[in-house]
Amino acid sequence: EYPKTLTLDGKTYETDEWTNIPPFIMDLTSRKLHKKPDHPIGILRDLVETSFKGMGYTYYNDFNPSVTTFENYDVLGFSKDHPSRSRSDTYYLNENNLLRTHTSAHEHECFQKCKTPGYLITADVYRKDEVDRTHYPAFHQMEGARLWSSNDKDLEEKIIADINAIPETGLIVEDPFRETPSNVNNPKQEYMTDRQVQLVSVHLKKTVEFMVHRVFEAAKKAAKAAGSTEAYLNEPLKVRWVEAYFPWTSPSWEIEVWWKGEWLECCGCGVVQQQVLLNSGLGSDKLGWAFGVGLDRIAMILFGIPDIRLFWTLDERFSKQFSSGNITIFKPYSKFPGIKRDTSFWINETSPLHVNEVMETVRNHGGDLVENVSLVDEFTHPKTGKQSQCYRINYQSMDRNLTNDEVNEIHKAVENDLVNYFNVTIR
Ligand code: PHE
Repeated sequence: EYPKTLTLDGKTYETDEWTNIPPFIMDLTSRKLHKKPDHPIGILRDLVETSFKGMGYTYYNDFNPSVTTFENYDVLGFSKDHPSRSRSDTYYLNENNLLRTHTSAHEHECFQKCKTPGYLITADVYRKDEVDRTHYPAFHQMEGARLWSSNDKDLEEKIIADINAIPETGLIVEDPFRETPSNVNNPKQEYMTDRQVQLVSVHLKKTVEFMVHRVFEAAKKAAKAAGSTEAYLNEPLKVRWVEAYFPWTSPSWEIEVWWKGEWLECCGCGVVQQQVLLNSGLGSDKLGWAFGVGLDRIAMILFGIPDIRLFWTLDERFSKQFSSGNITIFKPYSKFPGIKRDTSFWINETSPLHVNEVMETVRNHGGDLVENVSLVDEFTHPKTGKQSQCYRINYQSMDRNLTNDEVNEIHKAVENDLVNYFNVTIR
């Protein structure tokens, strides 16, 4: 199915039985939307970077999307059998190389080379996922981290001074863990004192709150400028902290933002595991925190973008609306019409078929042209006990009109694969 080699960013990878990256995903790796100053993702990156200016962070925006399993998992303490390593969740170039699933894959390298107390990494990341209005197999993250040296005899005073240097936000903060950051579910690490954990956690949380405040206040301002008079635009922002778990931080949390009547998960973070720092070649005197924030959902809010796939469109009616440094609300334009096709089949009892596999088969052939796949009907024949499923696929392009011929060709290829790989009988 796959060619003998795949080339990415000038490097060649020999494919093997792990390879599972369809061509349309390979194509996305060259887009680098976070580097485009006129693109919403690039504008959001710039907003955060500008907010952190002068606070001691180095910015990294040029990491290639292909990393090793060591960088994405092992160095961060993921167990060998961790589910997120599976081929059904992750895009592999081959057994040892994959498309990063998070920007944390670059933490150890930045810990090694960064000369400032902290850093921010922004990059495109990839996870196999269903495609809908808010999910896409490629998206963007920004990673932040900050370190101190415990050899410093003024360590505590230093962290306190750094905390005081973070601008006040006026956010309403709900945080049951503020005074006792270490607890049974989320213990502190042995190598730090209670006081150190306390101070590092407060620095981390204030930093994340500062970022959230900057971004969501900008979102309110943009909505008001576009004429919206909704009540929430005049209410103070509210956030809450919940416990979380990541293999490379402890304790760990997530911040959620109250936005239009619901809690929005926004950013995972925690106190970096000492093992990660040691793996990065740092001495045992270092301690600090890391966070990771997803940019696409936030950019959808900031710019009023109704569908995550629009970020990837080449349609000028999209790109012409945005300019560097400006947060402006998206004005919808008419979509190109979609073409619906149904496929119904009997499932072969000896080769069970998961909804996910149907989705993947459709995406392998339709790529970006698949707007939606849904299971619309399922039944068991009363006499034979055979199972039948019907899926409805909406083929649609963000950029142009599709022809019946090209859709028929894709749809045919999908049905052929379902027959060949899963032995279904098309009805
Ligand atoms: N990488 C995590 C994610 O993708 C976020 C994270 C980053 C959590 C850094 C903790 C520290 O969800």
